[in-house]
Amino acid sequence: MQDPIQDKHIIVGVCGGIAAYKAADFVRLLIKSGANVSVVMTKAAQAFVGPLTFETLSGTPVWTEMFGGHQSHPLRHIEWADKADATVVIPATANLIGKIAHGIADDPLTTFILAAKKPILVCPSMNSRMYENPVVQDNIKRLSDAGVKVVEPDAGLLASGDVGIGRLPAVEAIGESLRCLLSRQDLAEERILITAGPTQEPIDPVRFISNPSSGKMGYALGRAARRRGADVILISGPSSLADPWGLKVIRVRTAEEMFKAVMAHASKSTIIIKAAAVSDWRPARLYEHKVKKAEIEPSLPLEQTPDILKALGKSKQDQVLVGFAAESRDLQENARAKLIEKNLDMVVANLVGAGDSGFGSDNNQVTLFYQDGYTEAFPLMKKDALADLLLDRVVDIKKRGMITELNSRSN
Ligand code: PMT
Repeated sequence: MQDPIQDKHIIVGVCGGIAAYKAADFVRLLIKSGANVSVVMTKAAQAFVGPLTFETLSGTPVWTEMFGGHQSHPLRHIEWADKADATVVIPATANLIGKIAHGIADDPLTTFILAAKKPILVCPSMNSRMYENPVVQDNIKRLSDAGVKVVEPDAGLLASGDVGIGRLPAVEAIGESLRCLLSRQDLAEERILITAGPTQEPIDPVRFISNPSSGKMGYALGRAARRRGADVILISGPSSLADPWGLKVIRVRTAEEMFKAVMAHASKSTIIIKAAAVSDWRPARLYEHKVKKAEIEPSLPLEQTPDILKALGKSKQDQVLVGFAAESRDLQENARAKLIEKNLDMVVANLVGAGDSGFGSDNNQVTLFYQDGYTEAFPLMKKDALADLLLDRVVDIKKRGMITELNSRSN
């Protein structure tokens, strides 16, 4: 599936606050994600950043005047409302929030907002004393009650030098909020536990056994599930990837640590997806100090790590449990064996070790195996797209029987 922002027409409303310069970065993010962007600015916003900045970034004229000049068009607010897929007000001042909460339309932005269809995302940013003012809070509540999505500001150092709530969140986080608004919320009732990345099994303080998993597949699943409304816990082995927005991320190192973290959250999860490449083996002995060449036998005694997926399969109640299988041969036989042995609802099997797929790549090519014997093979695709597809299948399994129906149609 493509980025929910791609090919959408987004109207960006800019108000007069110190964070107005960050709106320029937000427009860049939208353009980079493939959106068409139109910008409307209040008078005060133009005192902070010139319209030319937004005109250059968006590639279209910026709307600044209600009457007169070459921009004059009596029905522009209706025309823009008709073509918009979503509207983002960034930053939203106390003044602007107050006006739209009370239906005031006295400039291009407020006039357009009154006509705009949802989704509308409002990003308040102001001094904490203004933000915490009960009148402002009341106006924010009015907007929320009217179905406008209000992004809570961050706490931190404010332009006044005070520390408090009121900072505009990172534009990437606002982009994710917008993606959520533009995505179907078919996982809104779900609590999803996802594992990602490799584990590291230490030999001594500087050496370990591991594998080349980057975490990309599991993190893509986490992002996609969050956008579709799920409450997501991501348990990640060592990965250089940043924590995805909106997820609870628990970082672990070893298979044992991952086992404990997974088991602590499993019973509260409605869906569990194990994309992590967990080491099956660990050194039987952990050396306290870096081992010298002469101190160690050429063969290293190993012991098995806990099989997390198998333990989950044993304790499974009515959760959907999805495992991955990384195979370099006999994909079908090995994947089916894992499906049965570990009591899974679905196995995502990928051939690894050849081509730009699987470990470390942005792409993956997988075959899905289900309990009822049905199999689906997919071409090479981006992990982001695959993540959405796998979640579609999980939704089907939750609806019970759809995969079986699919099976009887295609067999
Ligand atoms: O992280 P990336 O770079 O994006 O790469 C993605 C991936 C190739 C790692 C991913 O697509 C993948 O295949 N993940 C599973 C890798 C793996 O460990 O496969 P396996 O066949 O060894 O294990 C089967 C299943 O059992 C997996 O769901 C694994 O999480 C689980 N397992 C394995 C061992 C163990 N001790 N406990 C487990 O829970």
